[in-house]
Amino acid sequence: MTTPRELQEHFDRTIEREQRIEPRDWMPDGYRKTLIRQIAQHAHSEIIGMQPEGKWITRAPSLRRKAILLAKVQDEAGHGLYLYSAAETLGADRGELTEMLLDGRQKYSSIFNYPTLSYADVGVIGWLVDGAAICNQVPLCRSSYGPYARAMIRICKEESFHQRQGYELLLTMMRGTPEQREAVQDAVNRWWWPSLMMFGPPDSESRHTARSMAWKIKRHTNDELRQRFVDMTVPQAEALGVTLPDPELRWNPERGHYDFGEPDWDEFRRVIAGDGPCNAERIAVRRAAHEEGAWVREAAVSYAAKQAERAGRGGAGVAA
Ligand SMILES: [Fe+2]
Ligand SMILES: [Fe+2]
Repeated sequence: MTTPRELQEHFDRTIEREQRIEPRDWMPDGYRKTLIRQIAQHAHSEIIGMQPEGKWITRAPSLRRKAILLAKVQDEAGHGLYLYSAAETLGADRGELTEMLLDGRQKYSSIFNYPTLSYADVGVIGWLVDGAAICNQVPLCRSSYGPYARAMIRICKEESFHQRQGYELLLTMMRGTPEQREAVQDAVNRWWWPSLMMFGPPDSESRHTARSMAWKIKRHTNDELRQRFVDMTVPQAEALGVTLPDPELRWNPERGHYDFGEPDWDEFRRVIAGDGPCNAERIAVRRAAHEEGAWVREAAVSYAAKQAERAGRGGAGVAA
């Protein structure tokens, strides 16, 4: 018989050796709960994240832009589905996770509570928001939980396309009219600080970071990832010809990194608590989609039951 202590030791050794924990392996309750919370929050963000850009699909300026945007928004739906499936391998129920999103018990990324005011926002979201997502998610490809790590590998490949399409859209606009250049700068001004907030609160205030790092769910702290994002983005902003709205932003040769200003953490806390510009709208749209989609779920369940019934009769009728 395996004792609880042996199970724990086996788990600790697996983590220590950089091997993966798989769904059937024993794992501590806290590890399972932390993962469910993180993966669900991530899945919700992918699905809610379809809204700010999705509303521009019908107003895309050309067929090419429409095709690109459609594909991108559809990718995000796919990311949500992989991630809900990964959460299910931990014993979570997808319907329950959706309920928890709708009644506010689970969160999604604060970034999707800001409005998209022009088509330049589509470019800036691709460049900055998907760019920040990549910084956050690439290390998760080495996360200790197997299904999550494998989902992230596929997701990250698509995220890099998302970032490039955004940057390419902005390059095109910057070569356009003065109004187009202004629209890009305006979008950058609005999205820069919320993008920095995507990495979560400062390390000094982050409740979960230490535990998640010990479990190798997370590989870097919020502040490390934020710094990496700033270092990566500043040269891209220069190449694009836009100004990042931070007077404190400058290269620090001693640190070998860019110094930058402090995001408005009060705003961050307000948006997380539900009081951002679009929180109510995002949840209302999600709730309506969930209710309008009830018939699809019912049809799928009844189809599965019929198939099971046929299989129970020895497969008669299925072979035809
Ligand atoms: Fe995504
Ligand atoms: Fe994306």
